[in-house]
Amino acid sequence: MRSVITGGAGFIGSHLTEHLLALGDEVVVLDDMSTGAPRNLIDSLPNPRLSIVHGSILDRDTVMATIAGADRVFHLAAAVGVKLIVEQPLSSLRTNIHGTENVLDACVEARATLLLVSTSEIYGKNTADRLTEDSDRILGSPLKSRWTYAAAKGIDEAFAHAYWSEYGLDVAIVRLFNTVGPRQTGRYGMVVPNLVGQALRGEPLTVYGDGNQTRCFSYVGDVVPAMVRLVEEPAAYGEAFNLGGAEEVSIVNLAHRILDVTGSRSPITFVSYSEAYAAGFEDMRRRVPDFSRAYALVGFVPATPLDEIIRRVAEEMLTSRSLDHEGPGTRSAALDARGA
Ligand SMILES: NC(=O)c1ccc[n+]([C@@H]2O[C@H](COP(=O)([O-])OP(=O)(O)OC[C@H]3O[C@@H](n4cnc5c(N)ncnc54)[C@H](O)[C@@H]3O)[C@@H](O)[C@H]2O)c1
Repeated sequence: MRSVITGGAGFIGSHLTEHLLALGDEVVVLDDMSTGAPRNLIDSLPNPRLSIVHGSILDRDTVMATIAGADRVFHLAAAVGVKLIVEQPLSSLRTNIHGTENVLDACVEARATLLLVSTSEIYGKNTADRLTEDSDRILGSPLKSRWTYAAAKGIDEAFAHAYWSEYGLDVAIVRLFNTVGPRQTGRYGMVVPNLVGQALRGEPLTVYGDGNQTRCFSYVGDVVPAMVRLVEEPAAYGEAFNLGGAEEVSIVNLAHRILDVTGSRSPITFVSYSEAYAAGFEDMRRRVPDFSRAYALVGFVPATPLDEIIRRVAEEMLTSRSLDHEGPGTRSAALDARGA
């Protein structure tokens, strides 16, 4: 089986690369290394079934050539992270819309099956108890760049669905809810690596807003196998599937859990959204998935508990160089902060 992963050098893409290589696939990663990096693939690089194309999904010829001959494509390449989207709205829109269109065209040409990776952000400010795939989207103004990620991913889904209905493209869509784990970077505003990094370095944990906004975190190692099972399931084509965690936690409680698990003595400080991003920044108060559709079709269960996820993220930061990349401080400062 020949699989192409766009964004395969990123956080989730690198875990997917490892998983597909373990399944025996020949894997081609297409990545421009903007937020991803070859070091994310360090354990996979010696595998002769892995090849890497350093290029952009905005380069149509490269996309067509890379996907030609593929059996299946996992489309993860995107501008990701609130901070990145707010700071670079134009290039983010281009990547997340035009890049996806190139990938869709190439999949039709190659007759490849596609998994399109979308996001729970598309539900916007809908705070329903359990968001189903049919829940309404409640988005702020498109002039607020924070919402352009959700807008672009929504367009991607609509494109994918139209390619399925008009061109017969075999495409399944997954909407990921706050997927976390080792190798996720905090540089673009991701809360778990940011707070864990701060805890390990002995710095204050910066919680945005009042900290009572809630999320459900899921472990990348639970999500990735479900993505593969879905692309192999014809009943998934033309449909969308929520993949998310089961435990709802407020961000301030997440910070306390991180302090407990890491043994850090860091204080928690609160930072207003306008200080963290820009005046008028809007966030979701709550985001809770109903993942029963993915459970029914492919048995998806977010089995890894939050404390275990935090432990694995912290362990990876301490054993890799990533802690030094996430901000000021060093690993030895981190060990001091933990009394080690
Ligand atoms: N991590 C999450 O919680 C989460 C939640 C919802 C959806 N997603 C989706 O999952 C996918 C992967 O996200 P991630 O968290 O691994 O982020 P990531 O930033 O680590 O991965 C994105 C990858 O895409 C690459 N990329 C960006 N622009 C590109 C371009 N023009 N051409 C080629 N490659 C390009 C980056 O270099 C990076 O390797 C994205 O589509 C994202 O929208 C992630």
